[in-house]
Amino acid sequence: TRSFSFADAVLGWYHKHGRKDLPWQQQINPYRVWVSEIMLQQTQVSTVIPYFERFMQRFPDVQALAAATQDEVLHLWTGLGYYARGRNLHACAQAVVRDFNGEFPRSVEALSELPGIGRSTAAAIASISMNINAPILDGNVKRVLTRFFAIEGWPGETKVQNQLWTLAEELTPQHSSREYTQAMMDLGATLCTRSKPACGICPLQPQCEGLQTGKPTQFPNSKPK
Ligand code: ADE
Repeated sequence: TRSFSFADAVLGWYHKHGRKDLPWQQQINPYRVWVSEIMLQQTQVSTVIPYFERFMQRFPDVQALAAATQDEVLHLWTGLGYYARGRNLHACAQAVVRDFNGEFPRSVEALSELPGIGRSTAAAIASISMNINAPILDGNVKRVLTRFFAIEGWPGETKVQNQLWTLAEELTPQHSSREYTQAMMDLGATLCTRSKPACGICPLQPQCEGLQTGKPTQFPNSKPK
């Protein structure tokens, strides 16, 4: 089926070229993966690394984070920006300790009810830290999919958004969940970049409809005025 060749191409590329030794890819657990995913929203990997390391030194587990003051959490967040993320992180740690006895719940649905965790972040945490099969649709994946299928329309529109979730579900393999999630993020972050995609070395190039239009960077379409 279609999903098999797409996933195989992405996974094959990841095995050869993906990032596999980032700090949050060592000692994988839901707490570390959750903190990394929140920090990585709107922030590059190279910026996040030293913040992540300091954060783990000071707050090695969810109990330590829950017990801190918000001021101290925000102090360690200074410079990362988007401070609502830091406040939600603290509130989420307290909810996990209070409502789940300090163990992150093991389903996308329950994870996405926690403060600051949307559907895609919940799926990233479930797949990367628990190897649970769950499609993601963050900014990286939206770019890859809108280009690969030359999808017209602004992804902020409900109709386009729903179409993208359906494709993400169809393309996500039943196996290798952790690797596939990480592979899609890496592909979007390192090859299928916003303004200068490296189509010449992309594993999806032979079937990419966006490239065939001659102007892959027109996808995703921007917000209509
Ligand atoms: N952006 C969000 N999550 C990411 C991850 N796990 N790896 C790379 N980029 C990301």
